[in-house]
Amino acid sequence: MQEQLKALEGEARGEIEQAATLEQVEELRVRYLGRKGKLTLILRGMKDLPSDERPLVGKLGNEIRARLEDLLQQRRISLQESLKRERLERERLDVTMPGARPRLGNKHPLTLVLEEIKEIFMGLGFSVVEGPEIETDYYNFEALNLPPNHPARDMQDSFYITEKILLRTHTSPVQARTMERTAPAVPVRIICPGKVYRRDADSTHSPMFHQVEGLVVDRNVTLAHLKGVLTHFAREVFGADRKVRFRPSYFPFTEPSAEVDISCVICGGRGCRVCSHTGWLEILGSGLVHPRVLAMSGYDPDKVSGFAFGMGVERIAMLKYGIDDIRLFFENNLRFLEQFGIG
Ligand code: FA5
Ligand code: MG
Repeated sequence: MQEQLKALEGEARGEIEQAATLEQVEELRVRYLGRKGKLTLILRGMKDLPSDERPLVGKLGNEIRARLEDLLQQRRISLQESLKRERLERERLDVTMPGARPRLGNKHPLTLVLEEIKEIFMGLGFSVVEGPEIETDYYNFEALNLPPNHPARDMQDSFYITEKILLRTHTSPVQARTMERTAPAVPVRIICPGKVYRRDADSTHSPMFHQVEGLVVDRNVTLAHLKGVLTHFAREVFGADRKVRFRPSYFPFTEPSAEVDISCVICGGRGCRVCSHTGWLEILGSGLVHPRVLAMSGYDPDKVSGFAFGMGVERIAMLKYGIDDIRLFFENNLRFLEQFGIG
């Protein structure tokens, strides 16, 4: 029996030393030392031994158990250490290295242009107001002298929510909302930046885009004031040498009306896809506030007059930065966006 025990110890040692994983070590522990393990089974035979041999064999059995337990524990430790070493090797970390700087983002080109527009008009004494993007038919059209079924409603193909509620097609409803609040006091000098929505989509038209509305109401406001303010604006944004033209136009809420074009930067005025081969890109609509609009909002058109404009922020950004497709603003391509502002 002692021979049996010694043989068992030899066999167990050999296997434990070969064990390559913690799971294998555990398996061996169960196989040799567990309740139904090989050592336990051999020791069960002790009851058949002569009584003077029993203590000796018992002692040897206990010693072997202790040695094997030691060996198992050593094997566990060395396996754990080599695992750790392997992991450290894989995830080597130099704590003395300078940390990775978090990357600073930069402002979206439209934000930059919006900020510049606000800056210019605030310098001229305008204040900034906002209005709702979900607008009533009344403010988007009727209060601007566009009664139901007026053909000029077709100029702006709209997204309706109900028959009388829509996504505003321009920032002009803020004119009426503001005048209703301020009438009959003058002067009124406001700009209103915000998102507007139309059923439009090509390289210079987006279904969602930004406008900045402007409105001045005061005594004796004339077309000269409109032209002076907008020319100053264009020079500030584009520099003194860029060509600006005022082109007679029509809006139901202004009379007379003009649209302002800037010579195309993409082609230098020769004509291209961006300027529809005209050499010019329209940036805004404007005019003297129609007397009927003044009256509907509570002002006396015999006492005061005003001018208004609505500019397209994307168009201005395209001309300023030489961008040839309006969709680039909304595709969130970092290689495009990273080119603007601080990096
Ligand atoms: C208007 O929206 C008028 N409310 C402007 C106005 C205000 C006139 C006050 C008189 C007094 P218009 O539809 O032309 O006008 O649009 C104004 C500008 O918005 C255009 O000059 C253009 O720069 C820009 N714009 C129009 N449609 C789009 C579009 N789908 N995508 C991008 N920009 C657009
Ligand atoms: Mg227009």
